[in-house]
Amino acid sequence: MEIKKVGVLGCGLMGSGIAQVCATAGFDVISLEIEQKYIDKGFAGIRKSLDKFSAKGTLKEPVDQIVARLKGTTRKEDLANCDIIIEAIIENLDEKRKIFASIDPIVKADAIFASNTSSISITETMTATKRPDRFVGLHFFNPVPLMKLVEVIRTIATSNDVYETVYEFGKKLGKSPVRTSDQTGFIVNRLLVPYLLDAVRAYEEGVGSISDIDAAMKLGCGYPMGPFTLLDFVGLDTTYYITDVMFDEFKEKRFASPSLLKRMVMAGWYGKKNGKGFYDWSNPENPLPQDAALRGLAK
Ligand code: CAA
Repeated sequence: MEIKKVGVLGCGLMGSGIAQVCATAGFDVISLEIEQKYIDKGFAGIRKSLDKFSAKGTLKEPVDQIVARLKGTTRKEDLANCDIIIEAIIENLDEKRKIFASIDPIVKADAIFASNTSSISITETMTATKRPDRFVGLHFFNPVPLMKLVEVIRTIATSNDVYETVYEFGKKLGKSPVRTSDQTGFIVNRLLVPYLLDAVRAYEEGVGSISDIDAAMKLGCGYPMGPFTLLDFVGLDTTYYITDVMFDEFKEKRFASPSLLKRMVMAGWYGKKNGKGFYDWSNPENPLPQDAALRGLAK
């Protein structure tokens, strides 16, 4: 089957990034949100990002032409003739099951459903619909317009045709897709999450300061960001949620949240998105490590 029209559920950080790469690749895109204000915010971010690419001369078309392929809606009925639906709403199984169940009778029967979840079971989400053979995971990475990877996840019920169609779709988006199966965390988070949690445990044990641990991994291993910058970037709340799902699945300490991470999330320190995490992001050009404030919690 040919994919021409893409529906994206949610227009937050990930949803808007997904909508952007789909429109840039030439697909017609319709983004569903619960209120128009979220569409406006997401689309403003898309324009800003496209303007950056345009200034660098990396776009094949003028920004306006790409933006013209993007539509926003608050009505599920407008998704009816999409060829693929990519869900990027809140990381909550019940909410994901609810939205897929509600659009299942609306969207044409041969459309493919995909979830951008980072850790929730694709199989468990899929069972809320009557199209298990046409259901996959399609996991993008933040920031979506820059990160080259997309994980394409199959369940035991996914049909081969659907899986290969989505794999090829990932390539058409300019991404490098990798194949994986529906196991908690897939490839990247299975390996990345224990590393990030170990960084927090090392910090709790006094191995080094926030900026020294970050510098060590950046300069010693060639990582683009140190673990604490990355944690703030991904979101401490998001990471904490992922640990919850992964620990529940594997019952292994390496997937369990260190107490400092839990306490930071309880205190509302979610990272860059709301200004404070392992760094204070009041001035994003010069994030300030929060060792002094966290010392009381860390010891
Ligand atoms: N759109 C367009 N351009 C953007 C942009 C965006 N959204 N974000 C940044 N840029 C541009 C910047 O303006 C900058 O342009 P100039 O070179 O002209 O200044 C350029 O991209 C590079 O950005 P920066 O200078 O800010 O920093 P950088 O070189 O470190 O690159 C990065 C930024 C690509 C994010 C890099 O730091 C990186 O790869 N970090 C790791 C990110 C990562 O690991 N992501 C995965 C997280 S895990 C996840 O998402 C999954 C999950 O399930 C939790």
